Amino acid sequence: MKTVLVTGGLGYIGSHTAVDLIARGHRVVLADNLNNTRAEVLDGIEAISGVRPEWVQVDLADRSATEAFLAGRTFDGIIHFAAHKAVGESVAEPIAYYRNNFDSLLNLLDYQRAHPQCGLIFSSSCTVYGQADELPIPESAPIKPAESPYGNTKQVGEEILRDAVRAFGLKVIALRYFNPIGAHSSARIGELPLGVPQNLVPFITQSAAGLRGPLQVYGNDYPTRDGTAIRDYIHVVDLAAAHVVALERIFNASMAEPFEVFNLGTGEGSTVLEVIQSFERATGSSLQWSFAPRRAGDVIAAYADTHRATEVLGWTAQKSLDEAMADAWRWQLSLQGI
Ligand code: WQD
Repeated sequence: MKTVLVTGGLGYIGSHTAVDLIARGHRVVLADNLNNTRAEVLDGIEAISGVRPEWVQVDLADRSATEAFLAGRTFDGIIHFAAHKAVGESVAEPIAYYRNNFDSLLNLLDYQRAHPQCGLIFSSSCTVYGQADELPIPESAPIKPAESPYGNTKQVGEEILRDAVRAFGLKVIALRYFNPIGAHSSARIGELPLGVPQNLVPFITQSAAGLRGPLQVYGNDYPTRDGTAIRDYIHVVDLAAAHVVALERIFNASMAEPFEVFNLGTGEGSTVLEVIQSFERATGSSLQWSFAPRRAGDVIAAYADTHRATEVLGWTAQKSLDEAMADAWRWQLSLQGI
């Protein structure tokens, strides 16, 4: 059993990862300032796992508060989710994004430098690839200029980590997510988009539930099999499991390099229309939608080359798109007390 700090641990991916860590026998401490979630998520984690992990409400971008929180604590690993992550919002508020996402990372690195036995898993993103030249996208694909300050915080975050690993002999694994979707099958935890969802799947479930108008499909003139954009949609439960596998790779001293990067996706691309069809097939609900102009900043297609995750990390996504849509729908209904 190891002691693991999960920053952003009451968030969407953080809460699912906390459940998996507990299931694997680890002791979990959650740090979350409730900037983009609700304290009730802790009840969901407890309902699923039977354990109510310690939760500390702390702003990790606040250096003195973070030092006070971490003083005297010994963590074997940190999984760092806590960050602002809305692409559009980052364009409007770049300073807030750079300050929050970099200061929190740097404050954690101060701790890791003083405790080099503590490994770190960094939440990165496929946005670092921009519109990749090759598909599926391997980890060796060139990093393209970020399309948003959010994407830039992931690119620069990885560079900061590479430098810190080299300077201080740290152990870090960066995980580049493709598109996380779905919810735990218990419907006790899931995505809590505060405000109008920017992402496709939460908008679909809210629209189908009558909370939003028809879905707008952004663009039907892309050079793809049906004209709509392609993404690699990965079930959040699969994504969570990958974090624990990566952290245990550090615990087991199995790393080939002190800084490693892995894509986390299914390796399959789905168009927007295919996601809609999957939702309707999996839930029996019908969705109102219509075509709309392309959304600025969207890439045509992005899906992962998963060879490294499978062959080196020993992890492969297990859940289907239909399963993710059914789980997302069950979560939506539970949010409405149905
Ligand atoms: C998916 C597809 C849209 C909404 C973003 C971040 C990425 C990651 C996942 C954090 C696109 C289309 C969407 C809608 C639509 N987040 N769409 N109508 O943009 O691929 O990735 O979230 O790590 O970093 O960039 O995800 O869900 O917003 O869009 O047609 O109302 O659905 O155009 O083709 P995206 P998304």
